[in-house]
Amino acid sequence: MRRLLIAGNWKMNLNLASSVALAEGLKKAVAGVNDIEIAVCPPSVYIHAVKTALAGSNIAVGAQDVYFEKEGAFTGELSTEMLKDVGCRYVILGHSERRHILHESSELINQKVIATLKAGLVPILCVGELLAEREAGITDLVIRRQFDGSLSGVTIEQMKNVVIAYEPVWAIGTGKVATPEQAEEVHVGIRSMIAERYGKDVADVVRIQYGGSVKAENSKDILLKPNVDGALVGGASLKVDAFMGIINGVK
Ligand code: PGA
Repeated sequence: MRRLLIAGNWKMNLNLASSVALAEGLKKAVAGVNDIEIAVCPPSVYIHAVKTALAGSNIAVGAQDVYFEKEGAFTGELSTEMLKDVGCRYVILGHSERRHILHESSELINQKVIATLKAGLVPILCVGELLAEREAGITDLVIRRQFDGSLSGVTIEQMKNVVIAYEPVWAIGTGKVATPEQAEEVHVGIRSMIAERYGKDVADVVRIQYGGSVKAENSKDILLKPNVDGALVGGASLKVDAFMGIINGVK
């Protein structure tokens, strides 16, 4: 059985006080939720404070990105060791905002995935097509290219720890959500890519999250789909009630 993973991607939002307040609010609200994994990914400068505020709760903390080198002269970057030092368990990698705004290549994302796995952290690898790509009927091709490029060199054992987030770019922050059927179709495709390369046993345990305008009103039907193993939530993870609406809908 795959356990649902509901993760909040806070992006470049909130400040120190509101990050800590949100963490404290969530900590209280999730007491008693044991069957779902929950994580929050604050801006890196607030990870330590959020982790401290969450002490004693079952909410894990993740980062929104990482660099692949262990240490040294890489101005502005953070290493996996630093993320572990402040208590991170997850790292979002290859988010569409990093692919498209920061122009990250699948090659660079691949180096980050490998470094993250070697460090014992769990990568949440994002893949997803642009609206024009969906309309051109090349969604599968785009996802396969991102999948192959970002996971090159990942071993069977390592793959079991990878989380994949399918995030159609046209659904991120737009209020346009994929239908449960559209999400399920792509998730099935991703699971068969995993099976092709790593075998069915691995494909059966890898969690595939959906992301893109997930909120309480639409999450239940999406999360009920057999190949949707969680959600990566942006906007709706910034308020206790909105995030808890998603969690309470499936607990
Ligand atoms: P959204 O963001 O829920 O605000 O669409 C999701 C994401 O980018 O991970």
